Amino acid sequence: MFQAVLKRCLLPSNLKLFSVARSATIRRIHVTPALKHGEYEWQDPKSEEEVVNIVYVTKDGKKHPVRGKVGDNVLYLAHRYGIEMEGACEASLACTTCHVYVNENYLDQLPPSEEKEDDLLDMAPFLKENSRLGCQIILTKDLEGMELQLPKATRNFYVDGHTPTPH
Ligand code: FES
Repeated sequence: MFQAVLKRCLLPSNLKLFSVARSATIRRIHVTPALKHGEYEWQDPKSEEEVVNIVYVTKDGKKHPVRGKVGDNVLYLAHRYGIEMEGACEASLACTTCHVYVNENYLDQLPPSEEKEDDLLDMAPFLKENSRLGCQIILTKDLEGMELQLPKATRNFYVDGHTPTPH
């Protein structure tokens, strides 16, 4: 039975069809390369319309102006410019090491925090009214000029001292 099917497939007319189908399939496979966590933030803006300038204020009070772009995640953008925002859980909403204070003028421009973010912030040291998790802030044009202050300290309550148990 299998040989009969194979013979039918190997007929010259079917081979041509198979070749066309195969090349069409191969063409469909070509896709844009996938970006890993944070790689998008390592790309420069493609035009001036995309640019969003923000300022990080580090623990020592120094201001670090940064040229980001629409769609950048504030955590990964900080990493790109060597700003010490830890981000221990890599933006998976499982820590508070990306804790930042958002300049009050810009708080309303951000989407409201989700329950999970609020729960985590409740555990963050030095919590303030304008606290947010940096990894949940995505740049938009409305955030042009925003200042993000890093708290005096962050605490990684899960990763610090955590000993994973074998599965
Ligand atoms: S990096 Fe862990 S919640 Fe933001």
